[in-house]
Amino acid sequence: MIGSANGARVGITGLAAHVPERVYTNADLEQFVDTTDEWIVERTGIRERRFAEKHEALTDIALPAAQEALEKAGLQGKDIDLLICATVTPDMMFPTSSAIMADRLGAAEAGAYDLLAGCTGFMYALAQAYGMLAAGLSQRALVVGGDVLSKILDWSDRSTLVIFGDGAGAVVLERVERGGFLGFELGADGAGGGNLWLPGSGSRHFDEPDSFVKMNGREVFKFATRVLVSSAEKLLAECGKTVADIDVYVPHQANRRIIDHAAGKLGIPEEKVVVNVDRYGNTSSGSIPLALAEAEADGRLREGELVLMTGMGAGLTWGSALIEWTERTAA
Ligand code: UT7
Repeated sequence: MIGSANGARVGITGLAAHVPERVYTNADLEQFVDTTDEWIVERTGIRERRFAEKHEALTDIALPAAQEALEKAGLQGKDIDLLICATVTPDMMFPTSSAIMADRLGAAEAGAYDLLAGCTGFMYALAQAYGMLAAGLSQRALVVGGDVLSKILDWSDRSTLVIFGDGAGAVVLERVERGGFLGFELGADGAGGGNLWLPGSGSRHFDEPDSFVKMNGREVFKFATRVLVSSAEKLLAECGKTVADIDVYVPHQANRRIIDHAAGKLGIPEEKVVVNVDRYGNTSSGSIPLALAEAEADGRLREGELVLMTGMGAGLTWGSALIEWTERTAA
């Protein structure tokens, strides 16, 4: 699916992120699996990640981000009419985490649902919320992306334990006078789905106790390096832009080598690339909003700048969004 915005200006008017307190360094993980700090840093660029405590679930991590995003937009929960939560680790399948958060935020008028698209979930959710606002179905939307993958990791599997982390981010979408989203490109390749899967998680294998993430890292790596480039190129062409127009590039924070490869192939210079995988690992649906919030906090997102975001993950799925950044002044 690909499309450029046709007239409706919808932008991000509030943005925040939140991660659990507890830091796990690479050395900490050496207690659980046969790995080394040297291997993890060299192959992934990750130095540490946050893992939730036993009692913490997704909404405990995501609610502070949602609350802060609303405050930054100058809004309260009651002001939003749509809440989409992208996650593969909801508190439970139902009630949905979005419904739980809408209640906690006082968003009594909001339609609320969870969205599953692996690590690309946040990109899919942005596109959906954009469509709802552009069509006039929604006036103000809250889009949350977050995961607590530590809960579905096999803590004895070194191929997955070392790369993931927990975290969440949230954005408020509203109509804006200038800038806003220019377009989206979304895709899915179910044929590759078996390279990243959670076998015991649904109705197919509900009676099997195996509810841990399985991954064929090399295949996902090849897929990632391919789609991060192709998705960005397709979207830029659709929106009549070139790589030279990009001011800030926010790729999914899966692996430093994947990010460097994509940026190199696209021809985006290092200083325009947002990287925080070293401190948080791959936070799945939380990855892009977490990186975006950090870029904003660092003063890297300025009025009129063109920001490219591209995610990829389980499904296998991918998705890109192009946005002209607007200061937080809703129309
Ligand atoms: O959001 C999408 C989520 N997933 C991804 O983005 C993952 C994409 N894939 C990757 O990032 C990389 O494939 C990994 C980081 C997962 C693995 O790195 P790699 O360079 O592709 O390593 P590999 O799987 O080819 O394994 C190389 C070696 C193997 O040993 P042998 O067979 O060469 O003796 C592995 O057993 O490294 C070994 N290995 C480890 N060694 C120490 C695998 N994991 C570890 C580990 N510590 N944690």
